[in-house]
Amino acid sequence: MNGGMNSATSNILVETRDRVCRIELARPEKKNALTLAMYAALGDALAAAEADAQVRAVLLHGRPDCFCSGNDVKDFLERPMHGDDSPAWRFLRTIAGAKKPIVALVGGPAIGIGTTLLLHCDLVYATPAARFQLPFVQLALVPEAGSSLLLPLLAGYQRAAELLLLGRPFDADKALAAGIVTEIIPEGELLEYGRDAALGLAALPPASLRLTKELMKRPQRDAVAAQMTEELRLFGERLRSPEAREAMNAFLEKRKPDFSRFD
Ligand code: COA
Repeated sequence: MNGGMNSATSNILVETRDRVCRIELARPEKKNALTLAMYAALGDALAAAEADAQVRAVLLHGRPDCFCSGNDVKDFLERPMHGDDSPAWRFLRTIAGAKKPIVALVGGPAIGIGTTLLLHCDLVYATPAARFQLPFVQLALVPEAGSSLLLPLLAGYQRAAELLLLGRPFDADKALAAGIVTEIIPEGELLEYGRDAALGLAALPPASLRLTKELMKRPQRDAVAAQMTEELRLFGERLRSPEAREAMNAFLEKRKPDFSRFD
């Protein structure tokens, strides 16, 4: 079935065509940083794709040169609510519990949740220009989206520890070695390649596809849910800490953070 492009907010574009629901992050002026409204729209779009029998696969992408720079840091400072009724939490629960396959495409930065959400996708394609980063400790936070469980499982403890503790940017080769990325695709071919993969999934027997994804996810399902809940509790606490305010103000003021006054 074909459907037109509609915009849940102007920053999240949703289009269903040929049984593929394409969700595009479109806030280029802030490098696709996610606001509460964008999380709400993303959660709605994913939930609608799950409920729509005409949708067989989801294709999630940003701009050709930028996937997502993570949670909007200004939102973190001004609206630090991160409880279990927050749009971010609802989005994470929806993507973690999605039964239909999700193909994600990364060209350019994928930071914070821009990287951790990939751990819930099924096929992740990136260009050589992709840059990943998990700067939770640098921002005086803790990892979210189940990444403190999923990344060690995926990459092995040492590789995950480097990415989550040091929090430095890493490239597509490293993301491939860590298991975050399925394959590296030449720049300029990413969207077409991803769309082709999503169409391939959409042409398969849908029940077998869903059951196979469910079988792969089932052994970790409860553990991931429990870890996400514990991460959320600590994340909410850390978000209100003076260290986190300093880290985030420093980012917005384009200066180096100074943690010297903290114990
Ligand atoms: N939240 C809020 N604003 C953000 C943002 C975020 N996560 N990421 C980027 N922006 C804003 C910048 O503040 C800047 O705004 P301005 O034009 O009003 O000054 C604009 O987007 C462009 O970003 P800039 O840093 O100038 O672009 P860049 O090409 O030099 O770097 C990134 C791009 C994505 C590498 C860099 O912005 C970055 O590291 N962002 C990540 C922030 C972060 O730590 N996110 C994790 C949250 S858990």
